[in-house]
Amino acid sequence: MTTASPFPQDFLWGVASAGHQVEGNNVNSDTWFLEHLPGSMFSEPSGDAVDHYHRYREDIALIAGLGFTSYRFSIEWARVEPEEGLFSNAELDHYRRMLEACHENGLTPVVTFHHFTSPRWLLAVGGWEGPRTAELFARYCDRVMAHLGDLIGVACTLNEPNLPWLLESFGIGGETPENRGSVPVWAAAAERLGVDASTVAPFQFCSTEAGFAVKVAAHRAATAAIKGRRPELPVGWTLANSDIQSIDGGEELANQVRRDVNERFLAASRGDDFVGIQTYGRTVYGPNGHAPAPEGVPTNQMGEEIYPQALEATIREAHRIAGVPVMVTENGLATEDDTQRVDYLRAAVDCVASCLADGIDVRGYIAWTALDNYEWVFGYGPKFGLIAVDRETQERTPKESAHWLGRLAQAHNPLASYETQSASL
Ligand code: BGC
Repeated sequence: MTTASPFPQDFLWGVASAGHQVEGNNVNSDTWFLEHLPGSMFSEPSGDAVDHYHRYREDIALIAGLGFTSYRFSIEWARVEPEEGLFSNAELDHYRRMLEACHENGLTPVVTFHHFTSPRWLLAVGGWEGPRTAELFARYCDRVMAHLGDLIGVACTLNEPNLPWLLESFGIGGETPENRGSVPVWAAAAERLGVDASTVAPFQFCSTEAGFAVKVAAHRAATAAIKGRRPELPVGWTLANSDIQSIDGGEELANQVRRDVNERFLAASRGDDFVGIQTYGRTVYGPNGHAPAPEGVPTNQMGEEIYPQALEATIREAHRIAGVPVMVTENGLATEDDTQRVDYLRAAVDCVASCLADGIDVRGYIAWTALDNYEWVFGYGPKFGLIAVDRETQERTPKESAHWLGRLAQAHNPLASYETQSASL
């Protein structure tokens, strides 16, 4: 017996990256600035990264050659607007060439307008608590659209605006503005920027109510700016969606984290064209807060439990609360063992298939990440890539997981049976 494939014909099969993690030398960004401060939380600087800035053409051809139909990447605001109000046509032309390369290779470009990094100058005018930030971000989005809008396939405004609240529940960050001056890295940042430490509010590390309001306002203003140039372009934001669970004694905390991190951001996505879901696993809370992975379970390179089935719960939660189409814009595993990654991806794709079979509108599955890259505060240690990179020579080598997922993308044919295809993969 055969079953029709649950994957629609225009379903996007892709891999993702983010500018700062792959391009290299993003020197006008706030993140580069933080990487080089005394007391920095970054274990090493990003440096040349994997030189995607110069090697994008070969990388895009490689991704397409593996069988994918989409590439998600981000545009660096710090390159496009290196000083407030100064826009660089040369940098916009660079991203235009990237978009053209995607089209030449048959990849739908899913473009993120902000993936964690902002221009350094924004940090000096209030960062992601600043009164002008929503408007400044929307102005940048408008410039990007004027220059590149005709080539963009799907637009993502902000990447993981909710992440700082999840990190706070792990005991990372979460300082009040008044306390920032007592944290060496914020004190150093304030001194170099010539501002009061209470105003240092980078996107990834600020979990205040003011920060929440600014991010929602920025998303709305950016959506309006993008739609102003191309009303029919699908626009949404992408969220960090962990499957929030509890063990005895942790129910109250789990409910609170679920509300603060998942539900209020999903509620704010109502009315968007889609919401991007980015799931890596589950987060469990117990009587003493965030509970570590149970003894003996397989873990990823960050010591977290490997739990691909989380994706089914987070897609269903997003569908229930946001009530808009869902796109999996990130999902992946940090491991040196690529067989583990293939198993993880297979289980995750099954979660998507099960949601589709229940009538949930899922538009794509985009794995994190194309190339082994700069994993933020963890530096170059964790390997999330489907393609390995030798950072001495910058040589790229696709892993089995890249071939496996690329074949699945290619083999997908709505006229054939999904079971037959799965059996042959
Ligand atoms: C981010 C990526 C990051 C990935 C793996 C997400 O939080 O969007 O930039 O590398 O997860 O940690």
